[in-house]
Amino acid sequence: MTSILFILNGPNLNLLGTREPEIYGTTTLAEIEAACVARAREHGLGVDFRQTNHEGVLVDWLHEAHEAAAKAVIINAAAYTHTSVALLDAAKAITPPVIEVHLSDPHTREAFRHRSFIGEAAVRCFKGEGLASYLHAIDAAANL
Ligand code: DQA
Repeated sequence: MTSILFILNGPNLNLLGTREPEIYGTTTLAEIEAACVARAREHGLGVDFRQTNHEGVLVDWLHEAHEAAAKAVIINAAAYTHTSVALLDAAKAITPPVIEVHLSDPHTREAFRHRSFIGEAAVRCFKGEGLASYLHAIDAAANL
């Protein structure tokens, strides 16, 4: 059976391509998904790639990753990174290791982006490299 990586994306990431391109670039989420699927395949891994604008849905998906015995969860929680104790608690409650990713580097941006709740439960964090943040997270997950 192929091991699965859950790659979860939070609010406003559906708008990538047109959303603040000076910060996030012009790569769309569909293009990120295609690149992630291809990179994971090189490692013999499958991908379940999802996006939602709703915090509770992300919590449910973390639980689902646990139930599915996912190899790892790669999550760009977007703005919920900086606000959500619920996501932190969910990440702590599940067995699959959680890897945090960001397209931009939140630490070089506004002070309110410097705190990551989910980061307290993440085994690794890749940020500031756009699409490559996701690809490095996949490589790290494959080597866990
Ligand atoms: C982001 C950074 C967050 O601060 C922001 O709220 C996002 C995207 C990133 O990928 O750079 O929506 O997670």
